[in-house]
Amino acid sequence: MEKVLYGDCLDILPDFETESIDLIYLDPPFFTNTIQKLKTRDGSKEFSYSDIWKSHEEYAEFLYKRLKELRRVLKNDGSIFVHCDKNSTHIVKTLLDDIFGLKQFQSEIIWYYKRWSNSKKGLLPSHQTIYFYSKTKDFKFKTIYNDYSETTNIDQILQKRVRDKNGKTVYARDKNGNTINSDIKKGVPLNDVWEIPYLNPKAKERVGYPSQKPILLLERIIDIASNEGDIILDPFCGSGTTLVAGKLNNRKVIGIDKSKEAINLTKSRLDKPIKSESNLLKKGKKAYQNVSAMVEKLLHNIDYIPVQRNSGIDAILKTTYQDSPILIRIQKENETIEDAIKSLNKAVITKSSKKSFLIRTNDIKSLLEHDKENSNIEIVNSTIYELNKLLSKANC
Ligand SMILES: C[S@@+](CC[C@H](N)C(=O)[O-])C[C@H]1O[C@@H](n2cnc3c(N)ncnc32)[C@H](O)[C@@H]1O
Repeated sequence: MEKVLYGDCLDILPDFETESIDLIYLDPPFFTNTIQKLKTRDGSKEFSYSDIWKSHEEYAEFLYKRLKELRRVLKNDGSIFVHCDKNSTHIVKTLLDDIFGLKQFQSEIIWYYKRWSNSKKGLLPSHQTIYFYSKTKDFKFKTIYNDYSETTNIDQILQKRVRDKNGKTVYARDKNGNTINSDIKKGVPLNDVWEIPYLNPKAKERVGYPSQKPILLLERIIDIASNEGDIILDPFCGSGTTLVAGKLNNRKVIGIDKSKEAINLTKSRLDKPIKSESNLLKKGKKAYQNVSAMVEKLLHNIDYIPVQRNSGIDAILKTTYQDSPILIRIQKENETIEDAIKSLNKAVITKSSKKSFLIRTNDIKSLLEHDKENSNIEIVNSTIYELNKLLSKANC
């Protein structure tokens, strides 16, 4: 079931039955006092919505009335997730405490993402906040487990722990004083700081709607707080991210927006859902850290900027050559030198680099025909490569 409704959610919600929705997510205007605008990727269209208010009180009243109605339609085992940022966290939290009650506050989720620096004085904003409240204490919740960190002590994973008479957590022991092993634990429960990449300008799922959220973020909320077949409502659906995430995960979805363009966009996204893959999440941070460690080793004492989100380049030098960037790629393990050149070559062309370096780390050659080399790329042999060559010559 997919319903996309056009209008002010305050006018539409009274038609909903009481206690009929399993999960609500809302991403209302954030009290930024600006018109939020953005162009589509090809620049052919601009979407916008107003986030201008006469006062703090006017904004609070606007949200209060809608949150009250949202509480009514939420089932007793349902939850609500309210997205906001530093402009409105103080207002939103107070309203939610008032409407849902302090006891129903479950979490303050920090959505953390990397941003490019801006020139403004002060700290670079790199997070937004999502308040999670349940309607009652009996709410649906699925615990997700993450891997232990590398520094976790193996005893902490294996050994059973209990509280002593002073309430302190201690290892459980048998009557002979030996520690008792527990069942292998599943990992560390998901915490309330979520690192999920912001949609980059070239992301496939990006439709150019201002403040569009990543599907991955919504999928995590849907996963922890609802089951397949549940009804999810987004009363400020914008481009329809919540509905797309819900549809991809077999939920029934309802979206409301007072912008006709947002409604049309949501409908077209639902017809053809597109989700970008996040390399950071797919390959995991470790994969990036391994590359970073190699880059650091090989470029030690050279002034460079590491590049993590480009399949062709690992770093750019802080100096330039004839006003063009100097790109660096390190030949990967199991990668032929021809394939490494091919990947770097693409980046050299798109970034208009006049001088770039490929650092050779191994001697794997391709058996197939390969592209003509680019004269802007110079190959530099790494110490590892030279040493291995000498060692194999000396039959070591
Ligand atoms: C921050 S955007 C939502 C973006 C959305 N989460 C996404 O990923 O695309 C806020 C949306 O609220 C809508 N809106 C503002 N006031 C509204 C109201 N009273 N009823 C319904 N929608 C409203 C705006 O038109 C805008 O599309």
